[in-house]
Amino acid sequence: MKAADQHARIHAIPSGFSRRHLLGIEGLSASEITYLLDLADSYVDLNRQINKKLDRLKGRTLINLFFEPSTRTQSSFELAGKRLSADVMNMTVHTSAVNKGETLIDTAMTLNAMRPDLLVVRHSASGAVQLLSEKVDCSVINAGDGAHEHPTQALLDALTIRRHFDRLDGLTIAICGDILHSRVARSNIYLLNRMGARVRIIAPPTLLPPEPERFGVEVFHNMREGIRDCDIVMMLRLQSERMTGSLIPSTREYFHYYGLDREKLSLARDGVRVMHPGPMNRGVEIDSAIADDRAVSLIHDQVEMGVAVRMAVMDALSAHLRNDLSKEI
Ligand code: NCD
Repeated sequence: MKAADQHARIHAIPSGFSRRHLLGIEGLSASEITYLLDLADSYVDLNRQINKKLDRLKGRTLINLFFEPSTRTQSSFELAGKRLSADVMNMTVHTSAVNKGETLIDTAMTLNAMRPDLLVVRHSASGAVQLLSEKVDCSVINAGDGAHEHPTQALLDALTIRRHFDRLDGLTIAICGDILHSRVARSNIYLLNRMGARVRIIAPPTLLPPEPERFGVEVFHNMREGIRDCDIVMMLRLQSERMTGSLIPSTREYFHYYGLDREKLSLARDGVRVMHPGPMNRGVEIDSAIADDRAVSLIHDQVEMGVAVRMAVMDALSAHLRNDLSKEI
């Protein structure tokens, strides 16, 4: 499809998302999720063309405000903003534990005074992005807050799965590893449950939140049992930087019980696919032979879908902004 046709196709999609911010997946309806995934699908096509640029965000300012390090999420938001013609500024803030709260609000208010249209925020404290969204005038996208939510990751994972299996409902998906510290796990559980998939979580008891069943998932401590008959195995990084005590005996022992290798993967359904949000600890939660096997791994697809999903989210939120402006005029 030519860029002009693509443009027309994207313009023709009626807006199905009227929120000002994207702070989490919890609370989104199935139709809002489907709208974002459909829109992202059309951006995947655009991103595969030579001319990848549209002017949907022309004149708008996007600020990426990261209080935690990030490679793929930050670069993906940056590229997404640029492909939609926004002016993009990246800010990485290093915080000490003592001044965290103060720095967050101070920085947000300073940036707010520069009149950005979109703020993409990552912070180590759960709830920090919501707090910030209550203080600023622009749209806010949560790029990960503590162990709480990482909505665009769940959307890009869903898009990856939907493009591969043509559906989400009825699939059995195992999320394995450090569930306790994972905002990716939480956002994925909310989204997959909402869309009718069956979600299992597999982890040692020390890496699970209290009463994990409250999330509407099946809980397994034995990986061989949990993986049986799964369509997707989603591996998570051991987030040692968030661990206060020693939650696993050793990384070697962890790999033995919870690391994904060919032998454990053979227990899943034929046609099973493996995912990981990155960054990976090779040999800790996943064997390199699996991670690099393009016949089973969807890890590169996830990265590709990330740009398209972030374009879709920004586009959807800016539609809200357009409505606001038309009311003012
Ligand atoms: C994840 C995150 O930051 O929550 N990474 C990512 O966004 N791609 C997962 C992780 O850090 O392990």
